This record gives sequence, structure tokens and C-alpha cells, in this order.
Amino acid sequence: MATVRYREMIPVDFDALHDLWSQTPGVGVTKRDSPEGLSFFLERNPGLSAIAESGGQIVGAIMCGHDGRNGYLHHLVVYPPFRRQGIASRLVQRSLDLLEQIGVQKCHLFIHRYNESGLKFWESIGWKERIELTMASYMF
Ligand SMILES: CC(C)(COP(=O)(O)OP(=O)(O)OC[C@H]1O[C@@H](n2cnc3c(N)ncnc32)[C@H](O)[C@@H]1OP(=O)(O)O)[C@@H](O)C(=O)NCCC(=O)NCCS
Repeated sequence: MATVRYREMIPVDFDALHDLWSQTPGVGVTKRDSPEGLSFFLERNPGLSAIAESGGQIVGAIMCGHDGRNGYLHHLVVYPPFRRQGIASRLVQRSLDLLEQIGVQKCHLFIHRYNESGLKFWESIGWKERIELTMASYMF
């Protein structure tokens, strides 16, 4: 198994991340996934988002932010050849540990209802699907 290193996500990761997100079913890339959008997010949520790297290549990533009350995870992705090695679990745990350290005690994520493998992943690491809730959005 190749060595995997974990580090904070930084704005210059954008191009490699955008390639990885765009190639990954289950990750919804939108116009907000721009260099400016990523920089804004990282500035608002210092240190919470992370990269997994192997041999100088990004093989996994997670975006994490909070609104002062709840944490939110976005765009969790692991490059297919590196899956089932615990990389996503470590990325999630890193973000949760940091949220806990700054006093945020609950974290949510959005996942497409038909993303079966994604749902299995979250269930396997102890997350509960909130079947009593639905979601509404307002786009400016
Ligand atoms: C979901 C995803 C991030 C998991 O990454 P990963 O690094 O392979 O996950 P882990 O190795 O930490 O998996 C931990 C456990 O989750 C479960 N799991 C992970 N992938 C699974 C799959 N495809 N099917 C069923 N269970 C799965 C397993 O129980 C696994 O433990 P095991 O390998 O010992 O059986 C990865 O498959 C991915 O990038 N998917 C596409 C993007 C996506 O759907 N992201 C989530 C959107 S919110």
C-alpha cells in the first residue's frame, strides 16, 4: 500500500481538485467550484478542509466548514485506485476532530439519495440518515 500523507487544503490545490471532482460520480460540481469560491470557503473555515496525497498526487479530499452552530462536509472524494484503504474515514475524522476542538458539536452533510455506495460509507462510519428531514434551497 502506497504511503498517504494528510495535509490542510490550500487554494492552489484548486485545479487538481476540480479535475478529481469532475471525474467522480457522486460529487456535484457547480459554478461555485471556482478558484475564488474555494479560496473564500477556505478563508472562512481555516484549516478544516484536507487533502490526502500519495507520490505528489492528490488521492482524496474533503471540504469542511461551519456556521457557528453546525459543521458541514462537502465534496468528499477518494481517487478510485485508493479506495477501501480507510482514506475517506481518516479525512472525515480529521475534520470532525477539528470541529470538536473549536466547539462545534454536530456535523451534517448532503448526499444524493441514489448514491448507494456513498450512503453505505457514511452508515459504516456511524452517520445516521435523517429520513424525517427534507431540504430546501434558495439560489441568488
Ligand atoms: C465514498 C468514498 C469517499 C469512500 O472512500 P474510501 O476511502 O474508499 O472509504 P473507506 O476506505 O474509509 O471506507 C470505510 C468503510 O466504508 C464502507 N464503504 C466504503 N466504500 C464502500 C462501497 N463502495 N460500498 C460499500 N461500503 C463501502 C466500508 O464499510 C468501508 O470499510 P471496509 O473497506 O473495511 O469494508 C469513495 O467511494 C468515493 O470517493 N466515492 C465517490 C464520491 C462520493 O460518493 N462521495 C460521497 C458523497 S457525500
